[in-house]
Amino acid sequence: MNFDGYLQLHRPEIEATLERLLPRPDGPAATVAEAMRYAVLAGGKRLRPLIVIAACEAAGGAANDALAPGAAIEMLHTYSLVHDDLPAMDDDDLRRGRPTLHKVFGDAVAVLAGDALHTLAFEILGRYPERDDRSSYRADAVVTLARAAGVAGMVGGQIADLEAEGRPPDGERLRWIHRHKTGALFSASAEIGALAAGAGLPAREALARFGAAVGLAFQIADDILDETSTAEALGKTPGKDMAVGKATYPALYGLDASRAAAREIIAEGVAGLREHGLISDPLDSLAEAAVARSR
Ligand code: IPE
Ligand code: IPE
Ligand code: MG
Ligand code: MG
Ligand code: MG
Repeated sequence: MNFDGYLQLHRPEIEATLERLLPRPDGPAATVAEAMRYAVLAGGKRLRPLIVIAACEAAGGAANDALAPGAAIEMLHTYSLVHDDLPAMDDDDLRRGRPTLHKVFGDAVAVLAGDALHTLAFEILGRYPERDDRSSYRADAVVTLARAAGVAGMVGGQIADLEAEGRPPDGERLRWIHRHKTGALFSASAEIGALAAGAGLPAREALARFGAAVGLAFQIADDILDETSTAEALGKTPGKDMAVGKATYPALYGLDASRAAAREIIAEGVAGLREHGLISDPLDSLAEAAVARSR
């Protein structure tokens, strides 16, 4: 099945799961709940929950057991976007085709909504899948996401990304930034899919490596689109990376070499998974979609 088919098949249940697990906007905390819903239900590509589902199925599990863990990662990812867009970080006005959260609700609400999405992600991972035979896997999923989201993962990548602005390019550091700020959450998505399936360590590790490769290639594609695409297509403002001197693949290697690098990384990731007998059509097409995307 190709990527669009797989997305069409699972998107309604991904959206319904997010909707169900987000807080209702009532009571004294209604503003933050409303802001959380604004950021999450704005129609992202939902690539991370799809990877959780596809990895779970490739590891022998049922898509149903991957829905809540996928929603948890999407919430954590959305928190990272909300904070990434704040004036103190990338200072962006447009996200997912709408004004950024802080533009609508103000900085304080954006900080708090990000905080609340972050913690809600862990609450969900600790609770789902609810099956009795998954309790140790739920604990492993919490640890996996905590590592991937924190200073050893996404947050670490984000600080290195900010500190690299306007500095001379450095290939080794650039890869480190991309593997951490973006690759870590993709890797955790695939690994948590394996955990939702109740898979053992070899499958977990193989899927985690595959996810890391897809994430790195995905961020290279993000860098390329920032130079080549439009706000209409992306739903966010292009051209900002160059304007602030971000460390990006095209800045260091040019567009063609960046495209070639993304392709090579994906090919290696797919080959690695094939060696473990874990490749599937959905995972193959997800990897392809991460680099061939137009938004
Ligand atoms: C944007 O992620 C941030 C990066 C890691 C490049 P996505 O491109 O997956 O954003 P959404 O979820 O589709 O909005
Ligand atoms: C995002 O990198 C990584 C995150 C952890 C959010 P970017 O700063 O390039 O993402 P966009 O381009 O704003 O989506
Ligand atoms: Mg950023
Ligand atoms: Mg940004
Ligand atoms: Mg970007």
